[in-house]
Amino acid sequence: MADPIGIDFGGSGIKAAPVDLSTGDFSAERERIDTPEESNPKAVAKVMATLLERFEDSHSAVGVTIPGVVRKNGVVASAANIDKGWIGTDADDLLSEELGREVHVINDADAAGLAEARYGVARGRDGLVIVTTLGTGIGSALLYDGTLVPNTELGHLEIEGHDAESRAANSARKNEELSWERWAKRLTTYYRTLEKLFSPDLFVVGGGVSKNGNEFIPLIDIETEIISATLRNTAGIVGAAALAVDKQDA
Ligand code: BGC
Repeated sequence: MADPIGIDFGGSGIKAAPVDLSTGDFSAERERIDTPEESNPKAVAKVMATLLERFEDSHSAVGVTIPGVVRKNGVVASAANIDKGWIGTDADDLLSEELGREVHVINDADAAGLAEARYGVARGRDGLVIVTTLGTGIGSALLYDGTLVPNTELGHLEIEGHDAESRAANSARKNEELSWERWAKRLTTYYRTLEKLFSPDLFVVGGGVSKNGNEFIPLIDIETEIISATLRNTAGIVGAAALAVDKQDA
């Protein structure tokens, strides 16, 4: 059977690649197109169709990440950093129709969490693992003994009167030109709050910035073990591809 394709819908780019699920590696070069200025469902679906044309197999299963809450039936329920037109959209239906095959959507951080649990640092880790993605926003995936509890949205906890991601996401570091030290202070506040609420066994830090994990993770002053993700930027694609196959088999 052809390798499933994962598509990662992010604030700046839409990226796709086929994934070999026996290893979690891409089986062909990743393709990328800028996210359209107006990131409404139709415009984004069009970009995804163009991306899919670049891969040979037109029958492979397709999984798509969405940077918002995704209900069990594929309906998007929030859109903090994308066009609000996604809210209430049945994304499984719309994308299946536009892409001409069965498509399943999943929250982007949940996809990353799934990928880390199957192929990355969270593999084989029992107990409660919280995977956080630090990017434009903060995404979260909660895994208990490897099982995902979806849509936790821990980037939107209110901390010291602020939406947590507005202070501690990687976009805040960039926009406010924070040093690694100053950003790590904010991350300490953030992760201490998560610690207090969940008493996890492990935190995993994902998102593109985790490639610089050495610069800031050791500065985060908490009790719980906290480590950099393994898959980083590929995690969304890998998790989405895995989900597409899970759903097809279901
Ligand atoms: C969204 C989440 C998403 C995260 C990372 C947040 O603003 O509410 O659904 O996982 O950003 O993209």
